Amino acid sequence: MIDQTASYLSGLFSLAGRTAVVTGGSSGIGRAIAVALARAGASVVVVARREAELAGTVGELEAHGCRAAWVSADLASRAGVAAAARAAVEPFGEPDVLVNAAGINLRPPMDELGEDVWDATMAVNLDAPFLLGQRFGPGMAERGYGRLIHIASQQAFRAFVTSGAYGVSKAGLVALARSQAEAWSARGVTANTLVPGFVLTPLNARLQDDPARVRALAARTMTGRNGLAEDFAGAAVFLASPSASYVTGQAIFVDGGFSVH
Ligand SMILES: NC(=O)c1ccc[n+]([C@@H]2O[C@H](COP(=O)([O-])OP(=O)(O)OC[C@H]3O[C@@H](n4cnc5c(N)ncnc54)[C@H](OP(=O)(O)O)[C@@H]3O)[C@@H](O)[C@H]2O)c1
Repeated sequence: MIDQTASYLSGLFSLAGRTAVVTGGSSGIGRAIAVALARAGASVVVVARREAELAGTVGELEAHGCRAAWVSADLASRAGVAAAARAAVEPFGEPDVLVNAAGINLRPPMDELGEDVWDATMAVNLDAPFLLGQRFGPGMAERGYGRLIHIASQQAFRAFVTSGAYGVSKAGLVALARSQAEAWSARGVTANTLVPGFVLTPLNARLQDDPARVRALAARTMTGRNGLAEDFAGAAVFLASPSASYVTGQAIFVDGGFSVH
């Protein structure tokens, strides 16, 4: 019975023989997703800037017996994205799965939001996912299997805690997934976004210094707690897996009920 269960689950969710590229895979949500995809069988390339964090993530994956590699690149420029894409295919070939988790959240008040913050936010949060999709999506469609997974935000759907440029970039990601789904789903490539609530990661370290604020955010969920990076493991494996072939163009909320309270 145990063998039958394992083989059934493996047919649904195994990523053995698949290759994944995870941007922002060295920290927080991206790192948890990279670990999950690798432990589900994929060969994983993590992409970010800081080398120590990248090497640490790959070390953790190799300790689990997984195949993993890292690429240090700055996704804030088009040249950086192109260099990242070139380097990311070197270790294991063209990816079957692309996770866009790299993101920045700069929060000046709207009155003070200048072009520099707007440009930086759009470059990392929206341009890089678009450019990587253009680079890898057509090849996935040609091979007949692909999974594009973007990490959006509550602020793609509603404004709060100074949504500014960040919310706009994340709303763009939700629409990008729909456009990609429209283009490529008929050829085996799905595109979806995962929508976190408030997740305790280095991204919002400053906000976490205010325990009352953290408690208030937890109270806005139905589960009564804030998110953890590991909460995204199962959803990411599902979306990357063969069993999610009929799920496309969707925004899937992994938020403890934050959005429906
Ligand atoms: N935490 C939350 O509550 C929350 C809520 C909603 C959505 N999200 C989204 O979830 C995603 C992951 O966030 P997180 O909370 O896990 O944040 P995190 O721990 O700060 O991780 C961000 C990752 O992005 C990489 N990155 C940032 N700028 C980059 C650049 N210019 N080039 C390449 N890599 C870059 C970082 O590595 P380097 O700094 O080394 O480059 C890091 O690996 C983001 O898209 C974020 O907007 C998070």
